[in-house]
Amino acid sequence: MESKIDNRKFMKSNDPSEILRFIEAPLEVKTLKEFEDLVFEKTKLTFIEQMYFKEFDKIAKSISDENIKGDVVNIGIYRGGGSLYMKSVFEQLNLGEKKWWLFDSFNGFNKETITEKIEQESLIWFEQYLCKVKQPTAQDIRNLFTLCKLEKNTEIIEGYIEKTSTEFPNNQQICFLHIDVDFGNSTYFSLNYFYPMLTKGAWVVIDDYYLNSTLCKQMVDQFINDSGAKIEPIRLGKYQIGWRKN
Ligand SMILES: C[S@@+](CC[C@H](N)C(=O)[O-])C[C@H]1O[C@@H](n2cnc3c(N)ncnc32)[C@H](O)[C@@H]1O
Repeated sequence: MESKIDNRKFMKSNDPSEILRFIEAPLEVKTLKEFEDLVFEKTKLTFIEQMYFKEFDKIAKSISDENIKGDVVNIGIYRGGGSLYMKSVFEQLNLGEKKWWLFDSFNGFNKETITEKIEQESLIWFEQYLCKVKQPTAQDIRNLFTLCKLEKNTEIIEGYIEKTSTEFPNNQQICFLHIDVDFGNSTYFSLNYFYPMLTKGAWVVIDDYYLNSTLCKQMVDQFINDSGAKIEPIRLGKYQIGWRKN
């Protein structure tokens, strides 16, 4: 990631369109080969496809237009590109005073929570790629945000979300919750823990809903069912869904 950061020294603005080019968001991830390219080409700072970011722009605008209160909670950061772009959009909309809470283990998945056979097989598959490249560290993410002048009001919390969620102040509200941890139980945990803190009109995005190699969809459906609330998710990309809390 360092050579990428060196190149960025020549860029002056944190304009979202410039950040979008910088993170090299993929157009589409359809095949195993495309996924491999994302993992092995370290200049690609996000796995999230461009189509989602267009939808995100509208989400951010609605949060701004309707003055939705609260901080941002982003779980699953990896190389940080997705979070970097989303924060740049908030800054452009004069939402820079909102605090961004970035949670990641910086150590991959929480194996203790991956108990179903289908997910255990996916874990083996994921790890065979991920173990061949250096895992990003919390310091890498800090450097990246600093380089792009987006470090203000950014809090990076390292560790499994099942342990670190309590670092988020329990009296604080949330305007945008983005969950990208791939596996079902960690997604359910994150939703269940943070959802009560979402203000009315706040957005939640589940990045992996249509990822069919894990049980993300089943666990989100279970959360919606368990919550008893009237939730009508909309599709935001090839894999993503989201909805507003009412
Ligand atoms: C698909 S990557 C996130 C990609 C990122 N959002 C992007 O823009 O490319 C999933 C990330 O979730 C993290 N993760 C998975 N399970 C976790 C858990 N239980 N607690 C904290 N982080 C977790 C992994 O370390 C990994 O960095």
